[in-house]
Amino acid sequence: MSHYFENDETIKSKERIIHVKINNTELQFISDNGVFSKKGLDFGTRCLLENIDLNNLKGNILDFGCGYGPIGIYLAKTLNINIDMLDVNLRAIALARKNANLNKVNVNIFESNIYENVTKKYDFIITNPPIRVGKKILYEILFKAKDYLNKNGELWLVINKNQGAKSLIKDLEQKYTVRVVSKSKGFYIICAINN
Ligand SMILES: C[S@@+](CC[C@H](N)C(=O)[O-])C[C@H]1O[C@@H](n2cnc3c(N)ncnc32)[C@H](O)[C@@H]1O
Repeated sequence: MSHYFENDETIKSKERIIHVKINNTELQFISDNGVFSKKGLDFGTRCLLENIDLNNLKGNILDFGCGYGPIGIYLAKTLNINIDMLDVNLRAIALARKNANLNKVNVNIFESNIYENVTKKYDFIITNPPIRVGKKILYEILFKAKDYLNKNGELWLVINKNQGAKSLIKDLEQKYTVRVVSKSKGFYIICAINN
């Protein structure tokens, strides 16, 4: 079976429209087979977006592992700021581009395996990270983020308690100043500061 993070062109396309309300913002997304959480907004993503401190978000922002686009598109819509979004999954990237148009936001979406095509530093990297890729790649994503964050830049992520949130927090504390922003229905929202 293919995973949502693999580029498997044999997966038959079956696009669908998802209607989503996050806080007071209504959005529509086209999703498809072969991308993460195709049937609706992932609950972890919702927890992240409902708990992130929108007032502080400014500067350069990266949505890492954008999927069909909910994080970056929601932030661009509510804050009216420019956001970079990347993913390794080409179908997800194509959907994120369509969804940016659908929701009338201006975002910059590009393909990248981990940070290979990232050329600048960010004030915020925001992610619902791919857990199923395994610990090695997950840790590469979360720890290499330091190289792409400005000083005092913040890595925001969501992880479920059952996916090893507590041990991840301990490991992140070796490299970042870590704040657990909320624990919402089993999902930890974590802010790791690069100071
Ligand atoms: C848990 S999903 C989150 C998707 C979307 N942000 C959301 O909240 O619905 C993680 C995303 O990371 C992407 N991903 C997995 N491995 C990656 C890698 N090596 N480099 C970049 N993105 C990757 C997957 O394709 C997937 O879209």
